[in-house]
Amino acid sequence: MKFEQFQLERNQSLFENEVDYNLSESGIHPLKISEILTLEEQNEILDIELSYGYTNGTPLLRRRIANMYGNDITTDNVLITSGSAEANFLAVMTQLERDDEIVYMIPNYLQIYHLARSFNMNVKTVPLREELGWQWDLDELKKNITSKTKMIVICNPNNPTGSIMSNEVMDEVITIANDLDCWLLSDEVYRGAELSGVECRSLAGATDKTIVNGGLSKAYSLPGLRIGWSVSSEEYINKAWSFHDFTVINVSYLSDWIASRILTEERRKKILNRTKEHLKHNSKLLFDWAKEITSISISRPEASAIAFAKINIPLDSEKFVFDLRDHYSVLLTAGKWHGLEGYVRIGYGTPSDYVLGGLARIKQYLISQ
Ligand SMILES: Cc1ncc(COP(=O)(O)O)c(C=O)c1O
Repeated sequence: MKFEQFQLERNQSLFENEVDYNLSESGIHPLKISEILTLEEQNEILDIELSYGYTNGTPLLRRRIANMYGNDITTDNVLITSGSAEANFLAVMTQLERDDEIVYMIPNYLQIYHLARSFNMNVKTVPLREELGWQWDLDELKKNITSKTKMIVICNPNNPTGSIMSNEVMDEVITIANDLDCWLLSDEVYRGAELSGVECRSLAGATDKTIVNGGLSKAYSLPGLRIGWSVSSEEYINKAWSFHDFTVINVSYLSDWIASRILTEERRKKILNRTKEHLKHNSKLLFDWAKEITSISISRPEASAIAFAKINIPLDSEKFVFDLRDHYSVLLTAGKWHGLEGYVRIGYGTPSDYVLGGLARIKQYLISQ
């Protein structure tokens, strides 16, 4: 099988550990086990038997996640996956076939885009409009929806712009999906990382055919746990679980155990508060820095530790990123890898001094242009 290269992930894997300043990450600087578990729990870990556990996730973890989404969602509506990446993969593999048409927002984290195209599905891209605060233009969206649309795919909050879908657009998307009886796939892995500290609206349960994917890698600062999930109808969850038997069988029992402990309402709010404080502080650093720079202009994100910056000088995004990497040892991601040329994405989730160090080098680079 011939498949497309996931340029964003590959460039990050190759270089993120090689540069002095890795500003290519989109999450908040990771938490340590000692910061999230009590001493008693840390001791308990030493005695845990590392069994398979439950292939769909332990009932306790599924209950904790169901509770995050309100009354209509039960443990039977939740599947634990290896990151939200696996949850996205399962949605494409179980619901779509060759030649099926999907409607997809750009710019984006292009996992589903590359995956669907690699399996010869027809991906229709509909741009988010910067002049609308990185929202879909509803007329443009409607023009791209046809009776052949099998799935509408959303990333909300959006990577790389950090925008949150407005209620107006979301209501219309739900109406369209209901009228058409098509799938609605909402990747909500950045939910919980809002700069306002108020969790944005989830699409969970919005229609009978809605799949919401989330995880602990971004807002919860725990990418190394590799915990993700899908929330959907029982029918979908059972189907995705059957496919999951072929992918990873189940997530690490240890990760499931830790996630089950920290996702009580009180503890998860504590982690999200840390996220909010960190985002508030570092976004100020970024915007203060950006005031003096004219060769790029940064859109203000509403969520996530990333900002999408327009390049105002004649440089394509990959050249910008490669030059900066090779001559200033700073890694960003190129707009091209998010499906939109002319931009770069700057991550500001690392510790403040580190972010400032990276920004100082970017400034030097821009002055030299
Ligand atoms: C929008 C989006 N979805 C999914 C993922 C995959 O994350 P994970 O598998 O760690 O949950 C990422 C990673 O950057 C992402 O940006």
